[in-house]
Amino acid sequence: MAETLVSNQLLLDVRNLKMYFPVTRGIIFQHTVGNVQAVDDISFSIERGQTLGLVGESGSGKTTIGRTIVRLYKPTAGQILFSGQDMGTIQDDALWQMRRQVQMIFQDPFASLNPRFTIGSLIAEPMHIYKMGTRQEIRARTEELLSVVGLRPEYIDRYPHEFSGGQRQRIAVARALALNPELIIADEPVSALDVSVRAQVLNLLRRLQREFNLTYLFISHDLSVVRHVADRVAVMYLGKIVEIADRDELYLAPKHPYTRALLSAVPIPDPQIEKKRQRIILSGDLPSPMKIPTGCRFHTRCPMAQDICRQVEPAFEAKEGHEHYAACHFSEQVTSPIAKL
Ligand SMILES: Nc1ncnc2c1ncn2[C@@H]1O[C@H](COP(=O)(O)OP(=O)(O)OP(=O)(O)O)[C@@H](O)[C@H]1O
Ligand code: SF4
Ligand SMILES: [Mg+2]
Repeated sequence: MAETLVSNQLLLDVRNLKMYFPVTRGIIFQHTVGNVQAVDDISFSIERGQTLGLVGESGSGKTTIGRTIVRLYKPTAGQILFSGQDMGTIQDDALWQMRRQVQMIFQDPFASLNPRFTIGSLIAEPMHIYKMGTRQEIRARTEELLSVVGLRPEYIDRYPHEFSGGQRQRIAVARALALNPELIIADEPVSALDVSVRAQVLNLLRRLQREFNLTYLFISHDLSVVRHVADRVAVMYLGKIVEIADRDELYLAPKHPYTRALLSAVPIPDPQIEKKRQRIILSGDLPSPMKIPTGCRFHTRCPMAQDICRQVEPAFEAKEGHEHYAACHFSEQVTSPIAKL
């Protein structure tokens, strides 16, 4: 009974998801020589109306998770339960209906809006595809959506090039809202924007979340951005989630050395504390997702690595704290880079 109550609050429940891309060689006779293990057996869930921040450096698999959830890719293995139904295996009409509920916003508002169409037709397109009313009704709703995202409805017949980066991202948000989705996957939605407009777009996303009870998967390589928007934060390294916790707990009491290193790079607004911040520079590059290191996949760069780390993969298990999970043999020794203050 208790389990049913808990799962009813979950909008998205991802279980043991794998997304491998085959690497082929040969021109006429192609054969598979290996796999890019972009997402390698990950599990997480998001409660309705909440935001999960997904962070990690370039190439860790964040975008691949987003694209797999919206079924731009068919998962190699695992389940993507959306309101209890498995998005990973549904087909045809069920997939078509489910896609309305899950929308994605991309990093680059210049590339994601086709320059040959007016912004009105770009926002209206999904509503025409899903036959959500007459032409007049859809136009009226498009104007309404423009004002919801803080743009003037009179702009409806203008073209994308007439808008700034921040305004274009508002247009992309209006398009994502057109079908009344429940879940929005925002993939680095402010990374391409000037610092001065980032806060405006983040505030817009927060306001819309409250107004429409939206659930967000918010992807970013920047922990300081995620801190402003997320309720929980998941940290990815080389295709795996290595730590997940409530936001404040993750920032104040990390349990994984990789999270600690990422946190140490986040500037702190208070100059007194900022002076004492310990910076941890990780040596080496992210290893290839075709050749995952043995044992703990972070051992080639981890400042705390011991012999066991090279041989035994640490379990992703519950740690001290509220719903706090991490994968490290020595997690109890991990301290916050600002904990001594
Ligand atoms: N369609 C694809 N075919 C083959 N490999 C892919 C494909 N898409 C992604 N990859 C590989 O999967 C890994 C994860 O890529 P992904 O784009 O998900 O990372 P990311 O965390 O979003 O990085 P970034 O911060 O740069 O956006 C990378 O090694 C990438 O090269
Ligand atoms: S298991 Fe070892 S290598 Fe991996 S993060 Fe923990 S200390 Fe570092
Ligand atoms: Mg990406």
